[in-house]
Amino acid sequence: MATAMANKTLQNISGTILLAGAGKMGGAMLTGWLAGGLDPRRVAVVEPHLSPEITALGAKGVALNPDVKAAGTVETMVVAVKPQMFREAGARLKSYVSDETSVVSIMAGTTIAALEEVCGGAVVRAMPNTPAAIGRGITVAVAAKTVSAGQRAVADALLRATGSVEWVEDESLMDAVTAVSGSGPAYVFLLAEELARAGVEAGLPEALATKLARETVAGAGELLHRSDLPSATLRQNVTSPGGTTAAALGVLMGEPGLRDLMIRAIAAATKRSKELAK
Ligand SMILES: NC(=O)c1ccc[n+]([C@@H]2O[C@H](COP(=O)([O-])OP(=O)(O)OC[C@H]3O[C@@H](n4cnc5c(N)ncnc54)[C@H](OP(=O)(O)O)[C@@H]3O)[C@@H](O)[C@H]2O)c1
Repeated sequence: MATAMANKTLQNISGTILLAGAGKMGGAMLTGWLAGGLDPRRVAVVEPHLSPEITALGAKGVALNPDVKAAGTVETMVVAVKPQMFREAGARLKSYVSDETSVVSIMAGTTIAALEEVCGGAVVRAMPNTPAAIGRGITVAVAAKTVSAGQRAVADALLRATGSVEWVEDESLMDAVTAVSGSGPAYVFLLAEELARAGVEAGLPEALATKLARETVAGAGELLHRSDLPSATLRQNVTSPGGTTAAALGVLMGEPGLRDLMIRAIAAATKRSKELAK
């Protein structure tokens, strides 16, 4: 798991890594950083309602709600508050930002321009997804022109603590990224729900159908994760001509089929992401 691996960049950080917002995502990132070898004394958390887990990290050296002076030189500020809280939170957060600070935001729909306006700093905008909580997320990041190679390396290490990271150069791709990987886990959970429901329709007891669907989605996901083969090859490998899988795929891959539905779903999410962006 990515979180269990020692990370040279994290171990060599000398300034302060300030986490603004230690909720689900921020908390998962913090867990990943510490597991990756980041010295707890390098971390500061700014969060109005500290959970017992985060409070306990205070004893290990994590600074809890320090003032600007106590926080020291903030090398990177990771912003993980809800986007709707950002404008309000930003005024306080800005006081921690100096000329040397890189601001890494994981807030959905908050643009580099908005981050530069509210917080200043050299901005990296990133979009993680919920498997980050188990170190199996995928994050896509885009850096403003002002971000140095060193700042980008630190941002990459901080984001990589919860899974893999891809960088893009064009910020406008973040809407489609949000639609595919940011929102994507929900589509997979829906697949498990509908597979179970269809199993019940086909005569299975509900508890059995639910278990079969859950384990199938999780097992197939793990197989895909561990395999180097394209998903289409894995699909073809379990499809005998004229067999049961082929019968079902004839429906799913028919016209209209899953392809059309998915294109429409991703287009709807991309459009919504553009509407929400500010
Ligand atoms: N969850 C996802 O699937 C996902 C995926 C991609 C990106 N994101 C992004 O990740 C960010 C965090 O999401 P989340 O699910 O982790 O939300 P969350 O659990 O609600 O965490 C946000 C945290 O920020 C705290 N906060 C509120 N105001 C603050 C302030 N002024 N200063 C510092 N901290 C403040 C909140 O405290 P209170 O609870 O006390 O208000 C809360 O603990 C969001 O911007 C979201 O767009 C989430």
